[in-house]
Amino acid sequence: MEKQIEELRSNAIAAIDKAAKSLNDLNDIRVKYLGKKGELTSILRGMGKLSAEDRPRIGQIVNKARQELEDLIAEKNEQLKQEELETRLINERIDVTLPGRTNPHGHIHPLTLTLLQIKEIFMRMGFSVEEGPEIEKDYYNFEALNLPKDHPARDMQDSFYITEDILMRSQTSPVQARTMEAHEPNSPIRMIAPGRVYRRDDYDATHSPMFTQVEGMVIDKGISLADLKGTLETFLKQTFGPKVKVRFRPSFFPFTEPSAEVDISCVMCKGKGCRVCKGTGWLEILGSGMIHPNVLKMSGYDPEQVSGFAFGMGVERIAMLVYGIDDLRLFYDNDLRFLKQF
Ligand code: PHE
Repeated sequence: MEKQIEELRSNAIAAIDKAAKSLNDLNDIRVKYLGKKGELTSILRGMGKLSAEDRPRIGQIVNKARQELEDLIAEKNEQLKQEELETRLINERIDVTLPGRTNPHGHIHPLTLTLLQIKEIFMRMGFSVEEGPEIEKDYYNFEALNLPKDHPARDMQDSFYITEDILMRSQTSPVQARTMEAHEPNSPIRMIAPGRVYRRDDYDATHSPMFTQVEGMVIDKGISLADLKGTLETFLKQTFGPKVKVRFRPSFFPFTEPSAEVDISCVMCKGKGCRVCKGTGWLEILGSGMIHPNVLKMSGYDPEQVSGFAFGMGVERIAMLVYGIDDLRLFYDNDLRFLKQF
């Protein structure tokens, strides 16, 4: 009996000392020897069979061994805990000398940037910024602009129809009529209206079925062509630099009379003639004119009381000239190599 206890004791001591590599191992060893069904426990249970004189002596030995093992386990437990803490401290150490990770920066899209600059210039001249829907009524897109249903000039802006009477707007000009309707008749207006427009068109370096326009409209008593010229010249010089030359060419739009196409001297060759301006020295930049009396009338304004001018420009075209971009599709491709440059 004593031999058996001694053997058990030395096995347990060896196991605690050598085999226990983790707190889990140690717990297994504790269960094996001291647990309810453990080896030492079963010896204690079997003590009933001993003679009365052996019992106290053996009991003492067993209890001593038990106490000894419990102490050793507690000691080992402390040691293992300490070791585990140390490895964790080493593994989870933060190297504060490593360079920080920066968040990647977004860039304002060149079209948005151009729009912001356009808005800023006009807002300095007292213009408000209006908006209209991209899905528009035929009435606002054409009819209210002096383009009745069978007007041949509609062909210039063939668009995407949703129903007979609803289409993707082909220009921002419908915001003219919408803005007049939102005002008291004959009250002054000075607004620009930026936004997307849609036309049935090719998709290549200079065409897209969707692009961006900025509409402009001024109405007041005594507004003349001189106001139109002064406003657009101010805008174009602030956009392309004070040296840029501006030219007005007679043109036709059903909603303006007279109408003018506005050109600037070529920003690439400064007017000498190059590939970009096709040798002419001039670049067409926007359409404009004095608002047609019919347009004023249809939206409740009296052409005898007030007059006005309107203009419309393509934002992609302006951005291409300002930043020297040679392919329109770059605006819509979402290629980071392009977008990161702005
Ligand atoms: N809406 C015309 C276009 O898209 C441009 C324009 C606007 C012309 C206002 C005159 C006045 O071609």
